[in-house]
Amino acid sequence: MDNGVRARFRLCVAIGYVSTMSNPLDVFRDGALAGHVAVITGGGTGICKGIAAAYARFGCDVCITSRKQDVLDATAAELKAATGKDVLAVAADVRDPDAVVRVVEAARARFGKVDTLVNGAAGNFLAPAVALSPNAFKTVVEIDLIGSFHAVRAVFPSLRDAGDGLIINITATLHYHGTPLQLHASAAKAGVDAMTRNLAVEWGGAGVRVVSIAPGPIGDTEGMRRLAPGDAAKKAKQAVPLGRFGEVDEIAAAAVYLRSAAAAYITGAVLVVDGGNSVMGAMMSLT
Ligand code: COA
Ligand code: NAP
Repeated sequence: MDNGVRARFRLCVAIGYVSTMSNPLDVFRDGALAGHVAVITGGGTGICKGIAAAYARFGCDVCITSRKQDVLDATAAELKAATGKDVLAVAADVRDPDAVVRVVEAARARFGKVDTLVNGAAGNFLAPAVALSPNAFKTVVEIDLIGSFHAVRAVFPSLRDAGDGLIINITATLHYHGTPLQLHASAAKAGVDAMTRNLAVEWGGAGVRVVSIAPGPIGDTEGMRRLAPGDAAKKAKQAVPLGRFGEVDEIAAAAVYLRSAAAAYITGAVLVVDGGNSVMGAMMSLT
């Protein structure tokens, strides 16, 4: 594609986007998630803060957790002001299985049950494989994969008891191809997608659905600040067929949908929300 054609193509995509732009969460009705109780790891910031906000907005009781109590408290206060819901904020490192059990117990004590887990806690940085120390690789796998295991393990009895249980694992699309500088995170997220499929099979009979949401590049997030700093963001955008980064609310909308009755027959699936980024051919992004 020559530069002129490319520019016109991008302009059409941009005009199409602006002309249809509205908040993706506005399609859901008030009270759509009333009666549900969710524990959301990584819920103090970024994408999972957006999921926590959307869940609270639609009536779900929410417990957010991550390592930093001050960040969690600020987010809980913000969500209370926005939605009127009391959001429980309990600090824990997902690498500590006992701490994660305490989070689930606290949520159950406060809200009477837990029927939903969103596994969003993660750590990442750009590093060539050759420069990864054993501890660097292990740290990311311990947060993303083993931390997610700690959370599903801690929450399973509550999900089974509550009925209509749901686990949403926030993964990525890094491992669909060889992604440079991302060996650690790709390995971890591939493991989490494997966990989604295995648990969907093992826990379906207990009334627990298990799904992944795989975001593509989402604007104004820590993930993108780390993975596409400065000029790299412009290049990253060119690899998205829809011509833009996604928005936090577009991931939140997927999470609301998956928690709703409309998704009651969906389990074991990975919902890719990436503007087509992961299906774009390499030659297209080079032209
Ligand atoms: N390149 C290579 N190695 C790195 C690195 C980088 N940019 N950043 C950290 N590491 C290595 C450290 O050197 C250390 O290895 P070593 O002991 O062999 O030196 C190992 O990773 C652990 O680092 P540490 O800082 O002790 O880990 P932590 O548990 O305090 O923090 C991180 C975890 C590193 C993932 C940190 O970036 C974090 O807390 N991230 C959370 C937020 C985030 O990543 N958001 C984006 C989500 S997509
Ligand atoms: P983020 O704001 O940095 O979210 C990560 C969260 O995890 C933070 O709230 C962090 O809080 C928490 N966390 C990190 N280590 C933890 C630990 N050991 N124990 C408990 N909590 C921990 O980044 P984000 O970009 O929004 O990413 C959110 C999720 O989306 C991640 O799973 C990420 O892999 C995925 N994702 C993001 C993108 C993107 O474009 N941003 C793309 C694909 C996938 P504390 O520091 O307080 O612990």
